[in-house]
Amino acid sequence: MTEMQQKILFSEEAIHQKVQEIAAAISQRYPEGEIVLVGILKGAFVFTADLARAIDRPCRIDFVRISSYGSGTESSGKLNITLDVTLDIADKHVILVDDIVDTGLTIADYKKVLEQRGPKTLEICALIDKTGRREKAVDIDYSGFQIEDGFVVGYGLDCDEQYRNLRCVSVLE
Ligand code: IMP
Repeated sequence: MTEMQQKILFSEEAIHQKVQEIAAAISQRYPEGEIVLVGILKGAFVFTADLARAIDRPCRIDFVRISSYGSGTESSGKLNITLDVTLDIADKHVILVDDIVDTGLTIADYKKVLEQRGPKTLEICALIDKTGRREKAVDIDYSGFQIEDGFVVGYGLDCDEQYRNLRCVSVLE
């Protein structure tokens, strides 16, 4: 695969700053009790790792693999859970950590699944809120950056499994 043109959108420094801000807000929000961070693979693996290390509170960390798929061009919003949470989240402060919220179908549906398991609180944290193609309303409690549209890569985000190891977030052109 030929490398596509990349234009830096969010620098390593800007991302680092945002991660610190979000982590500080989370640490402040939960002075008591344990936090369970649930990172959504694969895209949120870098963000989850950095966020976890910046949070100044006891944390447990889990990862899930979920996707939303449809038939043809219309997304049916059917949730596909390949790897589910393994930790007991009942009565815990749970934060779902995503790389980017696009249509919102995946995270909105999975949040409903987790709600059934009786967490004490359940919030959503996304590095990027891509607002232009939203199909399901999602309450994002902590978001780093907002973009309208465009395909972005880096800091965990991929295009055909490439670019996940970029330290910044770039737009593919
Ligand atoms: P949705 O919100 O259900 O549409 O799905 C969001 C998921 O689609 C994200 O967690 C990413 O895995 C993927 N995705 C959406 N937009 C982008 C992008 O710009 N770059 C890389 N992956 C994306």
